[in-house]
Amino acid sequence: MAMIRPLSEALTGTTVEVPAGQPILEVKDLALRFGGTTAVGGVSFDVKPGELFSIIGPNGAGKTSIFNCISGVYRPQEGSIDFLGDSLLGVRPDAVAGRGIARMFQNIELFDNLTVLDNLMLGRHQHLDYGSFAGMLYVGKAKRIELENRRIVEDVIDFLEIEMFRKFPVGMLPYGVKKRVELGRALCMEPKLLLLDEPVAGMNVEETEDMARFILDIRQELGLAMIMVEHDMGLVMDLADRIMVLDFGKRISIGDPESVQNDPAVIKAYLGEGDEGEADGEDLGARTEALATEEVSS
Ligand SMILES: Nc1ncnc2c1ncn2[C@@H]1O[C@H](COP(=O)(O)OP(=O)(O)O)[C@@H](O)[C@H]1O
Ligand SMILES: [Mg+2]
Repeated sequence: MAMIRPLSEALTGTTVEVPAGQPILEVKDLALRFGGTTAVGGVSFDVKPGELFSIIGPNGAGKTSIFNCISGVYRPQEGSIDFLGDSLLGVRPDAVAGRGIARMFQNIELFDNLTVLDNLMLGRHQHLDYGSFAGMLYVGKAKRIELENRRIVEDVIDFLEIEMFRKFPVGMLPYGVKKRVELGRALCMEPKLLLLDEPVAGMNVEETEDMARFILDIRQELGLAMIMVEHDMGLVMDLADRIMVLDFGKRISIGDPESVQNDPAVIKAYLGEGDEGEADGEDLGARTEALATEEVSS
């Protein structure tokens, strides 16, 4: 078996070089409507290299819609999305992934019948660059690429501590492990920007702590920029460099955790008008958890 490498040696493609002070992602005046529904109503923000940027807001605020616009699932009616200086508008989802944006979905999207190993190998798909005749003419080269991809997958499996599940069909795994496999598949894509849509939703305390640790380790080892949508306010306040708060498709606040937490507009949106209660982090957390529960039960 290959020696275990640090993640930064296995995944060398995650580093970005942009001029000092420049963002890697720049979203301007983004608007997305479905018939009469405004999912996103003119939202602007940017993400700096290595930044953990969090998007929060009540259910239906437009968080997943922003991810869908970035990943090319939906085409916004207005605004611009630039990644590493190039527009992502009209770029198809697989091509967006090819440019270096990987995504962990709100609802797990893995192949249940395939093993953990095979699901992660699929994450390497666009790195399996054999060339059209390589299989026939350069068997040696194709074999080397295949082996290197396998090694990267094994490194990610080690990193996420899922060795014991390698050969298990994903469908058999507990929820928390499935989410970890999804994170693994996104990592195997060697992204430059990682989109995490509610990475700890539905997890128990222990699973949540594990996931938080992996997110922190990914940051520390790879310096990978991430956008995290999450209802768990404790996690957001602990991990995020900056937070954007959405309400009804509009940006109502943006800034570091402390300033966002103390922003009257945020307190008003979360606690509702006429409620003069103290809005510390716990109140915010409890309120968003209540909102999350409403969605699950409706
Ligand atoms: N495919 C769609 N068709 C119609 N309406 C949609 C679609 N996707 C999202 N919406 C609407 O857009 C709004 C924002 O949804 P979404 O981005 O999923 O919110 P969040 O992720 O913040 O909970 C909601 O009102 C939702 O019903
Ligand atoms: Mg959502």
